[in-house]
Amino acid sequence: MSLKKIWIETYGCQMNKAESRALQILLDRKGWILAENETNADIVLLNTCSVRNKAEERIWGRIGHFRHLKKTGNFKLIITGCMAERLKQRFIKETPDIDIVVGNFQKQNLVEICEKAINERLNGKKHPQIYADNGEYSFYSLHEKTDFKAFVPIMHGCNNYCSYCIVPYVRGREISRPPEEILSEISFLEERNVKEITLLGQNVNSYIFTNNCFPVDFSGILEEIITSIKKIKWIRFLTSHPKDFPEKLIAIISGSPYLCHHIHLPVQHGSDSILKKMNRGYTISHYLHLIENIKKRISDIAITTDILIGFPGETESDFYATYNFMKEIEFDDAFMYRYSVREGTKASLFPDDIPERVKLDRLGQIIELQQGISKKKKLKKIGKTLNVLVEKVSKKKKGELLGRTEYDDMVIFPGSSDKIGSFCRVTLTSLQGNTLKGEEILCPGD
Ligand code: SAH
Ligand code: SF4
Ligand code: F3S
Repeated sequence: MSLKKIWIETYGCQMNKAESRALQILLDRKGWILAENETNADIVLLNTCSVRNKAEERIWGRIGHFRHLKKTGNFKLIITGCMAERLKQRFIKETPDIDIVVGNFQKQNLVEICEKAINERLNGKKHPQIYADNGEYSFYSLHEKTDFKAFVPIMHGCNNYCSYCIVPYVRGREISRPPEEILSEISFLEERNVKEITLLGQNVNSYIFTNNCFPVDFSGILEEIITSIKKIKWIRFLTSHPKDFPEKLIAIISGSPYLCHHIHLPVQHGSDSILKKMNRGYTISHYLHLIENIKKRISDIAITTDILIGFPGETESDFYATYNFMKEIEFDDAFMYRYSVREGTKASLFPDDIPERVKLDRLGQIIELQQGISKKKKLKKIGKTLNVLVEKVSKKKKGELLGRTEYDDMVIFPGSSDKIGSFCRVTLTSLQGNTLKGEEILCPGD
């Protein structure tokens, strides 16, 4: 029997990436392989994202491309993820040549659905089959023997309802994974010699699991993880919300050698009135105070953020508040976006009154500002010797390796591929574009 082939495209956040990885491993166990290219697959699966209009437009482009390929090809097209969750009714009406639509709460059934799809004759139908019951979300996390870095989902969904955001509608209410399940997954990863884990959730700080009346919060589960590990060296977590980042968490990070000194702490905006309209639940002075506290306890901490520019009603002075705030804080890095309306969110009721060219101009200004800051911060690191976890061989230059520091800086240095998945001591020597270059310090016996 010939091997069953799947082509998977994943869009959006780490949660989607982790789910696609788990699916790929499950399929592998059932005898599937990844297709070498999109034209020789039995199934094309798009794991989609709805967070911004631009993300959806790009995916609509890919759907159009595969619908076109279907005229001559013989594959089944499956759409899953947040767009599938959000637009299932529209898919039924408008896209008969999509074969199957699978919502976020049915993702754990994807292997069976893929097997069924190639065994069943789906031809001649008038609209896609929909698997989108809103049952309870199943945590869906698997790892390959060769993985040296792993995502560990700890919670799912979001109750925050920031007014611009679609995530609570497509991922549902928050649920936290039982501590035993998290700890057993981590102990399995330890046996496999994994070096770095990233605890995942739309909002990890809201983790709360109550067992026999004893609630375990995010600090609690972190402490349990730290006491249980021996071989894993780096722990990261994504994403944190500034409104619930307690002192205790700062103390845990500063007191543990395992927690990377990097926190992604999306601020979104520098103006209190916009933060209020965004329903973020904190003020700029709260955020500043939090950052101050963190820096006081952890002097070498790297802080990155998300900025959302062009929100309805954003005045010139709101914009400059953000610009000046970024200049003052000097984030190590930032993901910067311009606002796009998401249907069904609270902000979709506000007029989207900032013209596109103004949004683009404002976005351009903060990108330029941040690029200068990021560069300055990286240049300051030259001369330091840091641990780098080697990820892969550089595609650009033979004999060079690519890795990351605990601060999430990308580093390139000469070395051989047998170092992939291990830590090297690297002295940083120069900056090329966004990437630090370095030389490995070899210890006697290396
Ligand atoms: N859970 C995370 C981030 C979720 S989405 C948090 O709370 O911060 C990732 C980022 O996408 C957000 O931080 C925000 O900056 C951006 N984003 C969300 N909705 C958006 C919208 N409607 N338009 C543009 N960017 C948006
Ligand atoms: Fe969206 Fe806000 Fe929840 Fe983040 S915290 S996922 S931005 S609603
Ligand atoms: Fe996108 Fe869904 Fe993640 S909307 S950002 S893939 S939770």
